Amino acid sequence: MNAETAQATMLGTLEVVPIDGPVGAEIKGVNLANVDDVTYRQIRQALIDNLVLLFRDQEISDAEMVAFSRLFGELDMAPPQENGLQAVDGLPEIMVISNVKENGVPIGSLGDGEAIWHTDMNYQEYPPLGSALYAQEVPPVGGDTGFCNMYKALDALPADLRKRIEGLSIKHDASKTSGGYLRKGFEEVSDVSQTVGAVHPIIRKHPESGREVLYLGRRLNAYIMGMSVEDSEALLDEIWSYTTREEHTWHHQWRVGDLVFWDNRTVMHRRDSFDAGSRRIMHRTQIADRPSA
Ligand code: SIN
Repeated sequence: MNAETAQATMLGTLEVVPIDGPVGAEIKGVNLANVDDVTYRQIRQALIDNLVLLFRDQEISDAEMVAFSRLFGELDMAPPQENGLQAVDGLPEIMVISNVKENGVPIGSLGDGEAIWHTDMNYQEYPPLGSALYAQEVPPVGGDTGFCNMYKALDALPADLRKRIEGLSIKHDASKTSGGYLRKGFEEVSDVSQTVGAVHPIIRKHPESGREVLYLGRRLNAYIMGMSVEDSEALLDEIWSYTTREEHTWHHQWRVGDLVFWDNRTVMHRRDSFDAGSRRIMHRTQIADRPSA
């Protein structure tokens, strides 16, 4: 689809404008500081249909971002930053992703480097349903965030490869962040079959759409259960060679006030590096996907 052929449609009161790419839509006509139940249901439907939603020109406080995110379910607490600190006083749900330092101390995580393709918290037993990322300061160049449509990635696998991975599961290593930082309390991995992290099927069924979707987590230190490390590495490389192709991905160039909300069950994302001298401040929330007690 290209910009000329993308048709805006109305979903109740929302205007849904498909992105020029294989995933995502811009949602117009919503103030995220004040979303009622009917609008929330429409946004949720738009998320299931489009996987990534872009809301432009939003002016929301951290508390409003938490309130909007909570409409989708309970929130995960933000993981501690690389320096062990928690980011926002009184709002433990907010994670700050930033390269900015105040008095020599980073105010957030991930610095200014590249973040590799990943789904958030794939190494946990119950990874989040989705994530919201809100741009407060952005660099003039770089720091774009890419999204990969994992339905399309699954559909792109040759039939024999798809057959070979049916019923297999990946162990998702917890030791490294997507920015390549070793998490506190972990050691460098020397044998991927011995990592610590959750195990998930490579092909999962999306609980809301009912569609099958590829679930890779991230490439680094992944291991296919029950295989020799050599066979696991070869099979993972083969799957990944079909996955993050340009025809499955869309890269978002941020503007201040953008809020992007993605379905963590159906997309992977990554981030470009940017100049260390520029500032990037993003606030993130994550909606939990745990079974109810
Ligand atoms: C993330 O991986 O959640 C952060 C992506 C970004 O900083 O654009």
